[in-house]
Amino acid sequence: MQQFETRIGIFDSGIGGFSILREIMGKVPSVEIDYISDDAFAPYGEKSDSDITRRSQLITKMLLDRGCSLIVVACNSATAAAIAALRQEHREIPFVGVEPYINVLNHNNQFPGIRKAAVITTELTGNSQKFKVLKQRIDPTGSILHVSMPRLASIIENILERGLDLELMNDLRKELEPLRCLELSHLILGCTHYPLIAGLIEEELNLATVSPGPYVANRVMDILSVSGEEHCTSFSYLSTNSMNWEKKGTDYLNSLLKYSRPGIKPSLD
Ligand code: DGL
Repeated sequence: MQQFETRIGIFDSGIGGFSILREIMGKVPSVEIDYISDDAFAPYGEKSDSDITRRSQLITKMLLDRGCSLIVVACNSATAAAIAALRQEHREIPFVGVEPYINVLNHNNQFPGIRKAAVITTELTGNSQKFKVLKQRIDPTGSILHVSMPRLASIIENILERGLDLELMNDLRKELEPLRCLELSHLILGCTHYPLIAGLIEEELNLATVSPGPYVANRVMDILSVSGEEHCTSFSYLSTNSMNWEKKGTDYLNSLLKYSRPGIKPSLD
């Protein structure tokens, strides 16, 4: 059994943070990972900043009690609402947050064919000061559109829990409807749930998506001085619904992430 000295904690309102977890597991060697899914309080995107901060403080404490020495806030909404308070409260602990990768504008050579882009977020992230400041700083002329998606994170939780059926596909199509007429070439995913179905979104809207996972994993690599070839192939998982820690492996993760790649949409009609 793998035993590494460095332990990192990751949390989200649900399984959205798995899109970040996957990148970290693939890139950062020699770490143990604890993941908390705050299902008892999900979705975060429609709660108040103070409620999200309170939950984030509670979950951070649980992860620190297990010996985590770096915390990844694998949730755009919690990063917007709570990361400043977490950093203030635990000055000795590095916190890595997630923000939408609006920086496509400055790195357009990495995004071939980029013509027109939009960023989609939860309502909480979209209304947050942190997001507005980021957007204004990187995109002062407003060339990237912004659309809030009130139900998308919950629809994704349902798709991954019960499988993609016709009813959920209709829910998804309805939620994506405002994006259809925009003729986008690229869609920046500003909620960690969205990359879980990036393949479906790309097929539905005929565009390319941009996810922040790889950039977050790079940041974790920069902070931790870990080296080695060995990557973790399992992680410890707790849902705040059951409050039980369980071990999960890469097989579980890969099967759950099947809609993150294009080409696997089942025939529903
Ligand atoms: N995955 C989260 C995010 O990145 C929150 C989704 C939700 O619970 O509303 O914003």
